[in-house]
Amino acid sequence: MKIVTIVGARPQFVKAAAVSRILRKTHEEVLVHTGQHYDRNMSEIFFDELNIPKPDINLRVGSGTHAKQTAEMLIGIENILLKEKPDYILVYGDTNSTLAGALAASKINVPVIHVEAGLRSYNMKMPEEQNRVLTDRISSLLLCPTSTAVDNLKKEGIVSGVYNIGDVMCDAVLYYSKMLDERPKEYYFSRLTGLDKAVPLLKDWYIATVHRAENTDMVEKVGEILRAFDLLDAPVIFPVHPRTKDFVNTLRMNNFYDNIFFVEPVSYLDMLYLVKGAKKAITDSGGLQKEAYILNTPCVTIRDQTEWIETLTGNHNILAKPKADDIVDKVMYTVIDEKKSNLYYGNGKAAEKLCEILYS
Ligand code: UD1
Repeated sequence: MKIVTIVGARPQFVKAAAVSRILRKTHEEVLVHTGQHYDRNMSEIFFDELNIPKPDINLRVGSGTHAKQTAEMLIGIENILLKEKPDYILVYGDTNSTLAGALAASKINVPVIHVEAGLRSYNMKMPEEQNRVLTDRISSLLLCPTSTAVDNLKKEGIVSGVYNIGDVMCDAVLYYSKMLDERPKEYYFSRLTGLDKAVPLLKDWYIATVHRAENTDMVEKVGEILRAFDLLDAPVIFPVHPRTKDFVNTLRMNNFYDNIFFVEPVSYLDMLYLVKGAKKAITDSGGLQKEAYILNTPCVTIRDQTEWIETLTGNHNILAKPKADDIVDKVMYTVIDEKKSNLYYGNGKAAEKLCEILYS
């Protein structure tokens, strides 16, 4: 069977790392990079480190408004589908690359496989929620990461072609986290590129990421979040996503954030190491919430809702408002129930299940 796979943004490279390795044993795959993420440390570094097959085609779409970015992807992907004539297109997650792939394919009757189907935040203001809902509506195979996701689809009347395969990101965490101990702590810390100062070897730290539009669209919100980080009881290592960088730089001109180490975005293995060793993760990323959960690191999520509701049990993940007081309170004073189920996201075999379904 011939499959055209679409990737474009950082978390999709991690998902492809888990799936392409297995998929290519039995199927022909054409890997298309839309170019949504293009900086070396947002894109290439993942392909190198995780041994992901090099993309067969890179559309080099880059940044732009939602309409411009999605429209350019649509045109590029349609051309590829007309030429390659695949049996399926495979899309991951909820980015503009996901929706563009699904829509281009569906219009010319190429069936769509959506990996990470059925997730919902029920906040249609989020671009990611729009991308998820629309992609699910036009997919033929809806491969869900959890039983909650299957139920969400059922509530929308979508039952055909729906399977719970487990989470491909969990496959990746379980597979790659085994490699972390091969290198000493000094190695991981030496790879951090500080934006203003070097990061010393720390005993305790928090790891933080912030990139969602809802948290980064106003300088005041970013200011509140940084104020919180500065008040915590251990240093915060903060890899700054390009979307957040301008506001962070503006704020740093007028404030001295003694407790924060601002660093360039880090690679996947470096991030797994930093999450695993952290006192807590503080984030608005979906992927990081789960990585923290699977690696047994408590998490505080700066959002009003999460698609990964299983992580909330026992306060292993807790939601916080983008307000300094609330973040400090949730990070420093939340009581965590130590009992935890590791079964929500599968057993690391989601990619294998995906291939079995394609065969059946
Ligand atoms: C996108 C996804 C989001 C996902 C995230 C993972 C959408 C709508 N959002 O958000 O769901 O969680 O990727 O990281 O698809 N930029 C660079 N270099 C890069 C990439 C981006 O400088 O390599 C800057 C540009 O200024 C760009 C901004 O970051 O405008 C935002 O990038 P974009 O791809 O639009 O969305 P993300 O915030 O990365």
